[in-house]
Amino acid sequence: MRGSVARLETGLRVRNFVRTLAIVLVFLFFAPIVHAQNLGETLQECPGTLTGSTQPQQIHLQATQDATTMVVIWATEGRSMGEVEWNGQTAASSDYCYNHDMAFHMATMTDLVPGEEVTYRVGNDGSWSDEYTFTQIDQSSKQFEWISIADHGDSSEGMDVSEAIISDTDARLVTISGDISYADGEQSAWDDWFNIQQDSMTVIPWITGVGNHENEPGYGFTPYEHRFDSDGQIESEMFWYSRQIPGVHMVFMSTEHDYDPDSTQYAWLEQEFASVDREATPFLIVYGHSPMYSSNSYHGSEIELRTALEQLYVENGVDLVIAGHDHFYERTWPVSAEMVMDTGNGDRFARGEAPIHLVIGTAGRSAYEDLDEPQPEWSAYRENSTYGWTRWVYDGEAREVSMAFYRIDGSIGDEFTLQEAPLSSESKDTILGVPGFGSVLPILAIFGAALRRLR
Ligand SMILES: [Fe+2]
Ligand SMILES: [Fe+2]
Repeated sequence: MRGSVARLETGLRVRNFVRTLAIVLVFLFFAPIVHAQNLGETLQECPGTLTGSTQPQQIHLQATQDATTMVVIWATEGRSMGEVEWNGQTAASSDYCYNHDMAFHMATMTDLVPGEEVTYRVGNDGSWSDEYTFTQIDQSSKQFEWISIADHGDSSEGMDVSEAIISDTDARLVTISGDISYADGEQSAWDDWFNIQQDSMTVIPWITGVGNHENEPGYGFTPYEHRFDSDGQIESEMFWYSRQIPGVHMVFMSTEHDYDPDSTQYAWLEQEFASVDREATPFLIVYGHSPMYSSNSYHGSEIELRTALEQLYVENGVDLVIAGHDHFYERTWPVSAEMVMDTGNGDRFARGEAPIHLVIGTAGRSAYEDLDEPQPEWSAYRENSTYGWTRWVYDGEAREVSMAFYRIDGSIGDEFTLQEAPLSSESKDTILGVPGFGSVLPILAIFGAALRRLR
């Protein structure tokens, strides 16, 4: 009896020893590759990443606030320690996951010179990506081109927009005003979306704001927080932040979080607007998702948003507010409290009158076709049932920003230019508040002269 107890105890000790040894070995094996999260968290959150290919995919650049750095994020099926190699330098990545069976890696390229070409690759000893080349944004450039979209996804129209972006080798940046992949809880949809955009996102940064579809059923904003980066910190995504490009201070705000005057976001916006250097960046653009002006019958104007923020925008000289959410295209006149403040000269405006609001939810999701009738006075141009993207150019010599709304067939639906200098009085096409009256004056003068000759 005592012998069998002793054998049992010995057996238990051996089993305990073997179990402990196994745990230690597992820990020693995996500890180096899970330095961003502990093993327990890995096993709980994404056990599927403990095996699988370590070939980089979903590679995308993320512009930072620092003109000398660029972040790159990528994914692998299996966990690994990643790194980025660029211009003879290397940097280790932070490696992490969320409750989806895909491992993510984020690394920062440093010591970049504005305007220089940077060639890089990501991965590790086992699996490297191709080499890609991007040009670090140079704030002093006299010409800068970028594309802005909203409400994208991967429909056939969305793919047309993606192809147009990929083939536009002059654009140096893409912005998205929310509703990005429409994963809506299906995480592989994000993987597919990033792989589709990879040809563009590896060579130019995409800057994103959150839409309602980034707040996913069962996940909240977690996938967005882990797949994009605005502050170099995993899981501490700020949903409002700014970036600068030549001539333009871009503010990305969230219409999906509290923006009331007593909110953190409102205080941040106040502080951010006050910090804009108009000599360096004469134009101030706010990107958000829900529009405060929209004459589409599906969602329409977000009145709560307008009540909370419009006067802050007006008082701080915000030039353009670029939203989505309603799947159509609309541009307002410079407007404040529904009052048209200026009608410019044809397709040319001078900044400083009031913000022009755009809804550009045309990048691929089903069009919302019903419009409010009659067209509100503040609505300068609107177009439904079409898909496309907006293309922007900053001209540093003229100190002006031009925009064209391209349909996916390549035709232009709308375009305008916003200049820093006031419109000259001759070119201003508003006489006594009547738009278009200015252009009639030369015709009246010729008519009058002809009449005088007849007499
Ligand atoms: Fe949408
Ligand atoms: Fe939306």
